[in-house]
Amino acid sequence: MNKKHILITGGAGFIGSHVVRRFVKSYPEYNIINLDKLTYAGNLANLRDIENAANYRFVKGDICDASFLQELFSTYHFDGVIHLAAESHVDRSISNPMEFIMTNVVGTVNLLNAARESWSRLLSGGDFENKRFYHISTDEVYGSLGETGFFTEDTKYDPHSPYSASKASSDHMVRAYHDTYGLPVVISNCSNNYGSFHFPEKLIPLAINNICNNKPVPVYGKGENIRDWLFVEDHAVAIDVIYHYGKNGETYNIGGHNEWKNIDLIQLLCKILDRKLGRPEGTSAQLITYVKDRAGHDLRYAIDSSKLQRELGWKPSLQFEEGLEKTVDWYLANKKWMDEVTSGEYQNYYQNQYDLR
Ligand code: NAD
Ligand code: DAU
Repeated sequence: MNKKHILITGGAGFIGSHVVRRFVKSYPEYNIINLDKLTYAGNLANLRDIENAANYRFVKGDICDASFLQELFSTYHFDGVIHLAAESHVDRSISNPMEFIMTNVVGTVNLLNAARESWSRLLSGGDFENKRFYHISTDEVYGSLGETGFFTEDTKYDPHSPYSASKASSDHMVRAYHDTYGLPVVISNCSNNYGSFHFPEKLIPLAINNICNNKPVPVYGKGENIRDWLFVEDHAVAIDVIYHYGKNGETYNIGGHNEWKNIDLIQLLCKILDRKLGRPEGTSAQLITYVKDRAGHDLRYAIDSSKLQRELGWKPSLQFEEGLEKTVDWYLANKKWMDEVTSGEYQNYYQNQYDLR
């Protein structure tokens, strides 16, 4: 029996590495091809435990390169695409929006074109049955909530940052390829993830690292912004479920039903780390430092994921306190990973290894 070939983009990043690991381990009947440019956020050390698996292959490449993508599709004849590659950090999008337009918008359209061309050619007449293009997106496309309410799949798009505007654009293009060409697409919009292999420019790993190293923990504005946190492995399960059972043309919201004010979350992390590092309670909290607010900082995100629960039976498995303890334990046990990432050493190693090919 011919194995199915699944392309996962951005598989060397935070969420992508968890998705690649899950698919490689759960589906020996698939060949998983991980396409990643290895930007500052891509790190093959995130996948060391599965890098030699028989059903896994890494390809270094850029989704902004349309002819490279066409070649890749003619080599592998992909049955499905799970698209996570993106520029993902809001603060970076504020200082360099063009990078976000290129990867998140142009890169996504290149991928849509490559899938459409390859699948139309293979299945004469463009009968896309049994193919799937799954686009991973964010709750930030919906904008900002006030004190109450939730984002549903019907909430009007209202992005505020260059990052969220670029993701909103890519969502619209994915839907346009469904409506115009009949491409079998599915989209999910997820809330804030946390867990292992999270790049330490994002709030939780940055705070853990700074607390461990007795460095100031920057809190933007008054720390009153609210995010809905989901354990990354629960997101990977949701992606698995939606890839296999989601309906073409549909959108699914994914969230943790787990809202935290930034300052309360940081206080909780300080408490956990005081205990784990044997510090008197209250020591780490002294590192909290209020800094200038993020421009256009969305006040509150909260996801209603009842459609996913009702239609496909997914719900988060972990309580937040348990997930956070697990996450802190992982960072304490993987200091080498954090040191290599923060020093940039990981990039020299892997970039050179693949650039020499
Ligand atoms: P990340 O920044 O950790 O990883 C992104 C990966 O994409 C990296 O490995 C990077 O090398 C790769 N990449 C970037 N540009 C590329 C290009 N031009 N060609 C090929 N590869 C490229 O991001 P993440 O946090 O894992 O997010 C993954 C996806 O999930 C993104 O699409 C993001 O918008 C979405 N998302 C993230 C969150 C979150 O909380 N982190 C929540 C909801 C949705
Ligand atoms: O909601 C999903 C989104 O979550 C994803 O689409 C993005 O890719 C992902 O980066 C994340 O975006 P946020 O901007 O919410 O995550 P970040 O970790 O950057 O910030 C979380 C909150 O903490 C936010 O309100 C800003 C604040 N913050 C962040 C940093 C880095 C601070 O107060 N201090 C900090 O140093």
